[in-house]
Amino acid sequence: MNLPIKVLGIGHYVPSKIVTNHDMEKIVETSDEWITSRTGIKERRKVTFEKTHDMAFLASKEAIKKAKINVQEIDLIICATITENKKTPSVANLVGGMLGIENNLMSFDINAACTGFIYALEIASSLIQEKKFRKALVIGAETITNILNYEDRNTCILFGDGAGAMVIEKGANKNLGYFYNSSRPDMNQVLDIGDKIKMDGRKVFLFAVDIIEKSINQVLKQSKMKLEDFDNVIPHQANERIISAVAKSMQVDKDFFFTNLQKYGNTSAASIPIALSEYKASNPKSSRLILVGFGGGFTFGAAIIEV
Ligand code: UT7
Repeated sequence: MNLPIKVLGIGHYVPSKIVTNHDMEKIVETSDEWITSRTGIKERRKVTFEKTHDMAFLASKEAIKKAKINVQEIDLIICATITENKKTPSVANLVGGMLGIENNLMSFDINAACTGFIYALEIASSLIQEKKFRKALVIGAETITNILNYEDRNTCILFGDGAGAMVIEKGANKNLGYFYNSSRPDMNQVLDIGDKIKMDGRKVFLFAVDIIEKSINQVLKQSKMKLEDFDNVIPHQANERIISAVAKSMQVDKDFFFTNLQKYGNTSAASIPIALSEYKASNPKSSRLILVGFGGGFTFGAAIIEV
């Protein structure tokens, strides 16, 4: 069963402070050449004054402006994050307050690591089907540079901060709103973010290449569509080499997979909505897309939407 949705607006916010690979060379023993060739990342953003909810709010404001709706129509906010600055109120709840929403509002955060945005989108899409909720705001926001171990060159060069947001309502197009979200708890040791990040990069890499293709195939099967029926894929922005390997395996041009990780690194749950927002800004006409992500847990998922 699919969950037809209509995307009304997408926005994003990234901090203005840029940390280049050359800046990283001053912090850990690494090089621009190593980071670029192994990951594709050239620079990332880092918060200065911003908290996770500040970025979530600014991304949401842009999404609402693009959606051209009255903010009071929003009655559901879900934020995907692993880097909230407070346990409670949740980021979603804080954003509701910052937006000045006065009506009934269901607001909560979810944690599905880097796959969080696709999980949140499925939950929101499901909740709006019964028309109990009119319009949902779905956010991915992270201040992940605050929890990095700057003595571990394997991980600290990969991540950056930012937020993306999307306003949706129930849609009529039955070809849209297919989701596949799942996890492999037996693999949860390969990426463990507690006090510090522990990651087996090689294992994550290999598993990601495999599971991205499988997740895409799952939503294609559900929707009875082919890859050729889509304008592009918006993947989680973790590593250019992971994306190239998937493209090669699926026998499509690498550019079929939209990337902006060169500028922002891996922003965890924010990576897909930031990429979507930039994609939409440069592709204003309607596009049919596959979103696909993976992350700690080990979580993974894909979705079919039109923006
Ligand atoms: O949202 C999910 C988040 N996680 C991921 O997406 C991670 C997926 N994995 C990866 O992106 C890659 O595995 C990495 C980029 C983390 C590492 O690339 P790799 O090609 O798998 O390198 P490696 O771990 O096999 O390490 C190769 C060498 C090692 O040196 P030796 O043992 O061969 O002498 C590392 O110590 O590269 C060394 N190395 C570095 N050198 C310079 C590791 N990190 C760095 C660094 N700068 N930052």
